[in-house]
This record gives sequence, C-alpha cells and structure tokens, in this order.
Amino acid sequence: MQKTIKHLINWKKNIAYALIAISLSGCVTGQLGKNNSDEYKNGMVVSAHPEASQVGVEILKKGGNAVDAAVAVQFALAVVYPNAGNIGGGGFMVYRGASGEINTLDFREKAAAAASRDMYLDSAGNPIVDKSLYGHLAAGVPGSVDGMVEAHQKYGKLTWEKVLQPAIDLAQNGFKITKRQATELNSLHRKFMDFNPDGTAFVNLEKTWQEGDLLVQKELANTLSLVQEKGRAGFYEGAVADSIIAEMKRGKGLITKEDLKTYHSAWRKPITGTYRGYKIITMPPTSSGGIALMQLLQSVEPYSLKKLGHNADSTVQVIVEAERRVYADRATHLGDPDFYTVPQATLIDPAYNKKRMQNFSWAAATPSSEVLAGSVNGSEHEETTHFSIVDREGNAVSITTTLNGSYGSLVAVKGAGFLLNNEMDDFSVKPGAPNMYGLVGGEANAIAPNKRMLSSMTPTIVEKDGKLFMVVGTPGGSTIITSVFQTIINVIDFDMTMQQAVAAKKFHHQWLPDEVYVEKDALDSLTTEKLKAKGYQIAPRGAIGRVDAILKTKWGYYQGGADPRGDDKAIGY
Ligand code: GLY
Repeated sequence: MQKTIKHLINWKKNIAYALIAISLSGCVTGQLGKNNSDEYKNGMVVSAHPEASQVGVEILKKGGNAVDAAVAVQFALAVVYPNAGNIGGGGFMVYRGASGEINTLDFREKAAAAASRDMYLDSAGNPIVDKSLYGHLAAGVPGSVDGMVEAHQKYGKLTWEKVLQPAIDLAQNGFKITKRQATELNSLHRKFMDFNPDGTAFVNLEKTWQEGDLLVQKELANTLSLVQEKGRAGFYEGAVADSIIAEMKRGKGLITKEDLKTYHSAWRKPITGTYRGYKIITMPPTSSGGIALMQLLQSVEPYSLKKLGHNADSTVQVIVEAERRVYADRATHLGDPDFYTVPQATLIDPAYNKKRMQNFSWAAATPSSEVLAGSVNGSEHEETTHFSIVDREGNAVSITTTLNGSYGSLVAVKGAGFLLNNEMDDFSVKPGAPNMYGLVGGEANAIAPNKRMLSSMTPTIVEKDGKLFMVVGTPGGSTIITSVFQTIINVIDFDMTMQQAVAAKKFHHQWLPDEVYVEKDALDSLTTEKLKAKGYQIAPRGAIGRVDAILKTKWGYYQGGADPRGDDKAIGY
C-alpha cells in the first residue's frame, strides 16, 4: 500500500515536473514546445546565444562537419556572448567521430612564466582580495585561438577562412544584444571605465544599453581578420601580441611575448567509464570535471534512483552523500597533470567509489567534517559557457569555454578589442590555509610558472551500444559537475527528454561548505523537511547551471536541450 502511495506521489510529481519543463521551454522560444523540442536528422547546434547557434548550423549546411561548426561557434560566441565566449580565455573539447574515434583537447590557459606561488599574498601572507580577480594580473595566457587552430587542423573540412568569416561579420556589422546583455553591460559600466580608461566597445557613453541595440566591435573584427589570415600567428605574434604586451605594461601584468609564442594546447586521452551500460567519454585533468563526473556516476550506480524518484528525499540523500565524498577527493587530489601526479586510475575505479560510499547511512547526513579532509576552491566563478554540436555524419563536439568571471578580468585589450580572462583565480591562491570563505586551498593546484589552473568544466559525450547517445555540458563553476551529472541521470534514470532533463530543477553539494544548494522549486516542502530532519542544511539559491545538450533518439533524430535559465538556443535542420 505504502509503495502504491509513493508510486502515485512520484507519478504526480513527474507529471507536474513535465508540465513545468514544457512551460519553461515555451518561455525560451515563445512557441510552446517548438524549436527546442523539435527533432532533426541532419545536425544540431545548442549554444548560449541564438546568433552563435545560427552560425554553427549555417556552417553545417555549407558542408562543414561538427568541428568546423564548433570553431565557427567558438569565434562567434567571442563576439555575441562576450561575458564568457572568448578568444582571450580557454576551454576544453571532447570529440567523438562518427566512426567512434574519441579525443579531447585541453586549451586551458596557463600561468605566465613569471607567475609565482605567493603572487596574490600580502606581506603578512594573506590573500589580497581582487588581485587574482580583476585587472591584468588576473589573466592567464589565453588558449582559445591555439585550441581552435589545433581542432580545425586535425578534424576540420571547410577552409579556416570560411569558419572564421561569420564571427568577423558579426563583429564588423554588429549584432542585437539581448535584454539580459543590456542589463549586464549597464551594470558593469563603471567597472569597464575603471579598467579601460580609453574606452571599449562594451561601454555606451551616449545612453544606457537597451535590448535590441547594435553592439559593433570593429577592433575585434580586425583581430579576428588577422587570425583568419595568419592562423595562430595572427594572435600569438605580431600586432595582436604587441597589443597584449602593451596592456600588460599598462596594468603591471605578467604575460610576455615568450609566454604567448610558447603557448600550446594539449591533446589528452579522454576519461572513459560506464554507467548502467552507457559509455561516458569526458574530460581528463586539467579539468577535474571528468574524473568527478565518473566518480559521481559510479557512487550512485548501485542505487535504483528511478525507484527512489526524481528529486525525492532518498534520491537527494544518495546524490548529496556521493557529491560530498567526490568533492573532498577533488579538492585533495586534482591539479595540472603536467605538474602533479593525479591518482586518476584509483579515482575512477568503481570499487574505490563503492568503498567511499560504505559509511553512507539512510538515517542521517554524514557531516563533511567526517569525510576525508582536503581542500576546495570556494570562489569559483559560474559564468563559463558550453555548446554541443552534431553533424549529419554523426560527428559530435562538446566544448566548454570560459573567461572565468563574467567578462573575465574586465580588461579589453586596447586596439584588439577582446577581453582577457581572470582564470588565475582558479588556482589555490594560498595552498594549505583557509581562504576568504574559510576553505582550504589545495597543494595540487598551487600556482607555478606555466602551470594550468584546475577547472570544473565537464564537456561530455555519452554512447549507447557503441553509438552516439548524448552531447552535454554546462557553465556553473563548481556546480558544472553536478549539473552535468544530474542531466545525464535525468535522461538515463528518469526517462526525460533532452529539454526536460536540461530544464529540470537542480541541487548541489560540494563537501564544503556543508550545505545542499537548492534551486527554487527543486524540492517540495515535505522533501525539504525530511532532509532537514536527517541533518542536511538546505540553502536556497538562484539558477544552477545552463546546460546545452543534444540527445540522439533511438530513431536516429537529434533532440536539443537549450537551458531556459539563459538565452540559449537549440537549432537543428
Ligand atoms: N573558470 C571555471 C572553471 O574553469 O571551472
């Protein structure tokens, strides 16, 4: 009887949940269920900005493959989504070719050769707040242009010139900003003026920005034209490199000509594993995302989440306890693999993760203080961006890219028109001691010359029966890993469509602080009370993640999931 009532409650919850998801997707498109939930045979692009998704689909229609479209979208996002799209930042790509070949590209930024472990500490050894966050000193050596050159050279089909052209046109002719972008640019007006006294395209001196205003970026168009003409030399050498160095001089930054010239992205062996028979292909370090994602999936696999129910108290318990243990590991064991030996094989061993869950109890929360001590970077920024692409042949690309904070360091390179990242803040600024949030920074992620800072970005591809099944990823700082995880289980365990899985309300725990962050309406009041009674601290918060994903249905169609939390758009054909 009890079982039947529970089943009925879960069934009702699922119906209510599906209705919310449908209405959310309607909010994005203005056409209930259309566009985002339509299915397409030939290809699909899902990104944070409609103009960028359109650029990607046009490239596919011109005969480009998923990598051609990805390169075009990366450059287009640098124009139309300057808060996270970039050429002055970095990111990660997971690739799966139609024939099953898999690969990953690490185009994460690096610390300059002159960087040092204590560069953000005062004479008393305390972190100087803001020093790693804003201005020239916060910037790592950018990786995006080199990454796109590498990806295109290895897998691209169309000419470099063709894939660059749409972004150049958007920068040259301008694009209409969204309401969200107008609000962001207006709120940052003063800060942009402070960091760019000679002006930048992001500042409107005549009036406040309004939705639909044209944002024209002539300097950026010129920079992109140089990259189009000269490839990586158009960015890492010559006029653009000179402009970056001039900026460094102006703001006492550390990046030198040598740093730029010697920057190279790295092809890395993907992290792979299985979850309920599906193959997970994801990003290895320098991102922590892939390892942590595999750990989460392995930790919950022994439990029948479907029976427990979506966002039901027991499900939340299992997931939170897994997250608590995985994030403790992440904090202790992960850093740039070129500098630190990450115990990767152990961390993604199912037996290890099963053992980690051995002291989980249904009766009460495990206090984080009793879980293996380590460290966590609590100040991670959430304004990254992700895009997912599939083409007619079935090639798939999953890219997450970032400047770190919204509009990065807020420094736009004078004469070159692009924003520099503030990725240095992703290092442990003071390893071994509590940071401003009372958290401890990890030794594995200490600053060192030419080292890459640890990331949470989790671009991922999932296979079913040896065939492409899902392409997924999201921004969201430390919530990236748990958002990708929940999106995957929403489809595999809870039978959701891609759009429902993306729109579903999410929750997050990261070991420290010992709190369950919960989006509005993610948990009903009874579930919340039950969790509180077992010792879980529930902390309401705003949106978690902005997932952009694609599902290949069993009939061979592509189904998009564009996150209604942003202006994101799925376009297929
Ligand atoms: N800057 C966010 C990340 O790399 O995870």
